[in-house]
Amino acid sequence: MHAPAAAKPVILTGDRTTGPLHLGHFVGSLKNRVAMQDTHRQFLLLADMQALTDNAHDPEKVRRNVIEVALDYLAVGIDPEKTRICVQSGLPALAELTMLYLNFVSVARLERNPTIKDEIRARGFGRDIPAGFLCYPVAQAADITAFKASVVPVGEDQAPLIEQTNEIVRRVNGQIGRAVLVEAAAVIPQVGRLPGIDGKTKMSKSQGNALLLSASPDDIKRAVHLMYTDPGHLRASDPGRVEGNVVFTYLDAFDADADGVAELKAHYRRGGLGDKAVKQRLEAVLEELLAPIRERRAAFARDPDIVLDVLRDGTHEAGAVTAATLEEVREGLGIFRAAL
Ligand code: TRP
Repeated sequence: MHAPAAAKPVILTGDRTTGPLHLGHFVGSLKNRVAMQDTHRQFLLLADMQALTDNAHDPEKVRRNVIEVALDYLAVGIDPEKTRICVQSGLPALAELTMLYLNFVSVARLERNPTIKDEIRARGFGRDIPAGFLCYPVAQAADITAFKASVVPVGEDQAPLIEQTNEIVRRVNGQIGRAVLVEAAAVIPQVGRLPGIDGKTKMSKSQGNALLLSASPDDIKRAVHLMYTDPGHLRASDPGRVEGNVVFTYLDAFDADADGVAELKAHYRRGGLGDKAVKQRLEAVLEELLAPIRERRAAFARDPDIVLDVLRDGTHEAGAVTAATLEEVREGLGIFRAAL
């Protein structure tokens, strides 16, 4: 059983279940979640309903990845004794809160949401945007408020969603006449975004530039081999550029020996250090980081019942928390009770 943790601030965050997680997730969020699980009452949401808002044509992918993302959580050290991992589709109170909140937000406001605006453009939805996708910020507001989360660690691109959540909180609380819902603070990680192995954009599976947490030694080798360096650094004897050189960006992110990396950079800039030597070092660093994650992941994958138990228990506890909030909101708004 979990110790009573009333005094700990509540964290709610999560991931769409559209694919296994990668090194970018590790740097940007997972590491932080492992650190926060001791100081906060943390819930991690496997957001399969939100994943469906732009994957309704492939529900099988969304379903399969519930387990994949859960395996990634467990593999990096999320401890189910400290963090509850729950499945969004198993929490009907979230859907009911979404229905209620939809009446407190306008279509114009949703279309102005910068996150949504960017995504409409990137995916070329135009007016054919699925209504569920346009409204997912409202569903995300339901996620956050149902847990009464005060802390929501998210990437920079998600900050407008938290702002929109807090607008809904104020409107619903205003209608009810007291602060039933809690405003949330977005906590944006300070670390820079990890570029993909091509150095172009952020790491993303759909861009084909990701290194998965489940990567095999061969996958690591291949990814490091493909990594973008300095196109002007043709011979080892040439001076090379460190800025924008993905291999060095990754060494900065993952090599604990900062002095060693600084020396390597100086040598590379002077000339006389080949890409191959730097890449070999990075390969070793990544293997050291990923080997234990890969092994833990494989061990859990061999024992799916343990994972299913974790999800059942986490969803059960989350179900009680979210149902209690829904009840307060229904009560506050004075929704008719057909049955008691
Ligand atoms: N939108 C998040 C993502 O794209 C996933 C998510 C769903 C979420 N509900 C949330 C994040 C609530 C934080 C809080 O990965």
